[in-house]
Amino acid sequence: MRSVLIANPKGGAGKTTLATNLTGYFANAGHKVTLCDLDRQQSSLRWMAFRDAAMPPVNGYFAGNQMLVSLPKEADWVVLDAPAGLQGYKLTDYLRLADKVLIPVVPSVFDMAATEDFLGSLRQDLRGRRAAVGIVAMRVDPRTRAAGMLETFLQHFDLPIVCYIRNTQNYVNAAAGGLSVFDPPHSRHRRDVEQWKPLLQWLDD
Ligand SMILES: Nc1ncnc2c1ncn2[C@@H]1O[C@H](COP(=O)(O)OP(=O)(O)OP(=O)(O)O)[C@@H](O)[C@H]1O
Ligand SMILES: [Mg+2]
Repeated sequence: MRSVLIANPKGGAGKTTLATNLTGYFANAGHKVTLCDLDRQQSSLRWMAFRDAAMPPVNGYFAGNQMLVSLPKEADWVVLDAPAGLQGYKLTDYLRLADKVLIPVVPSVFDMAATEDFLGSLRQDLRGRRAAVGIVAMRVDPRTRAAGMLETFLQHFDLPIVCYIRNTQNYVNAAAGGLSVFDPPHSRHRRDVEQWKPLLQWLDD
């Protein structure tokens, strides 16, 4: 079993979008995947409830109200969807359990400012495990000024951008149907699936 935590204390950064799509990817690749929803809002579980039984199956449960002691061993992959505002002992607890940490960041001055302290504290928490952390540039075209701003901002933390995900209604529409961009029909999401390749490669390293 391997696990990936998706976290950023800033609300609306794209955590649940990343978590549900990554879960969809694992399911379509034939892996046993469990989506662990750590958020009281339970958006990931809602997504799962919308999911058509004809689609590749995913498991999931809510674990936001207790200390997480262990993860389900029977899964190939566990995806943890963290809540906004996550910090302190709960964050430390989740970081300890996860093999990899993905941090979606929207390149706006507000989002970057709200993420700054979190990225700083990760340095402390993950001493010696820095390779486990990857940034996902969310809702951005890599050729734009916004992307450049994000890259400059991240230089302070020495963390890699492992993927750029564009702003598209495809994610909004997929979410509404309990789907990911990796679910059929595949022709609809070709460009989006292409964008995920470096992230999936990074997870495998
Ligand atoms: N790449 C994208 N393109 C278009 N819309 C997106 C994209 N990523 C996320 N969104 C939309 O942005 C909103 C916030 O995303 P999401 O719910 O994934 O963030 P979150 O970090 O989980 O929020 P919260 O902190 O409230 O849990 C949602 O409406 C989602 O559909
Ligand atoms: Mg969420």
